[in-house]
Amino acid sequence: MTVFRPLFWEEDHLVLLDQTRLPWEERWLRLRTWEEVAEAIRSLRVRGAPAIGIAAAYGLVLAVLRPKPGHTPAQEFQEAQEGLARTRPTAVNLFWALARMTRALQACQDEQELFPTLLAEAKGIHEEDIAANLRMGELGAALLPAGARVLTLCNTGALATGGHGTALGVIRTAFAQEKLGMVYACETRPVLQGARLTAWELGREGIPFRLIADSAAGLLFRRGEVDAVLVGADRIAKNGDFANKVGTYVLAVLAQRHGVPFYVVAPSSSFDLALPSGEAIPIEERAEEEVLEPYGCRFAPPGARAWNPAFDLTPAELVTAFVTEKGVIRPPYVHTIPATLSG
Ligand code: MRU
Repeated sequence: MTVFRPLFWEEDHLVLLDQTRLPWEERWLRLRTWEEVAEAIRSLRVRGAPAIGIAAAYGLVLAVLRPKPGHTPAQEFQEAQEGLARTRPTAVNLFWALARMTRALQACQDEQELFPTLLAEAKGIHEEDIAANLRMGELGAALLPAGARVLTLCNTGALATGGHGTALGVIRTAFAQEKLGMVYACETRPVLQGARLTAWELGREGIPFRLIADSAAGLLFRRGEVDAVLVGADRIAKNGDFANKVGTYVLAVLAQRHGVPFYVVAPSSSFDLALPSGEAIPIEERAEEEVLEPYGCRFAPPGARAWNPAFDLTPAELVTAFVTEKGVIRPPYVHTIPATLSG
């Protein structure tokens, strides 16, 4: 299976597909400073929990490669680490990748080692993510019935990861195995990751799909047209509560009401075992303009205000199973999550 990579390292810089321009234009950016990487994460040029972590890891490579005048590479790394940590609060993959890169830096004996060591570590994080996605694709596809009609939200595909995808990776693998009937992709207000990005990925590969308005999901369930829900996650607490794109909770409640399995597909880097439950997960609130005036098109009257949480919280009791690269995890999650992840 060929894997599409939305970002990669080239000689001395990071190349990254600008997701804010999709599907209108395929614009590849060449980023040469960690500040440019931080801006790309903040403004959603690169988004999706695993992809954010990978981009941040490459950002730290850029920091040691091009320290500002008067800074040692280690000082620049420290500044970059703090700056990148401030970009987006919810996806734990970001903090996981920053911590892993910091451990790699601390293991270096002298300055000459920094760049090659950190580049190898960032590439390692990237390649491991792709391998995890391919594995989750196999494990997740095995859970689906023949001709499965699946519902998904946001974009969890190659664009959101190092390549292949999590929930969309399962869809990709199921399609390759000729097991997939139809994908219903929620358009995903307010910034339309489903309509712009998931539709772009599915369309390129000829995977059958229908875009739906987010609020059409209820009727779809009522008509019995959903065999499984597949979503990703930005942070999963030790008890299985998790944060994901706003709208996930609604789909989980609907799935339970209609007896449809609800699967969360996420690598082990998306789990935060330091959090006993989801209540402590920080939920990012983004600019009001994303709701009032998406992509420069003003819908709301002058003076209207908006509330724009980027994520919501879904309690563990609504999750049928977590699909990770280490195995499929079923309740009781307080026991099975730590046991599977430490294995
Ligand atoms: O705001 P985004 O586009 O970064 O949100 C992305 C999601 O919520 C995804 O579902 C999640 O990061 C998992 S991506 C494999």
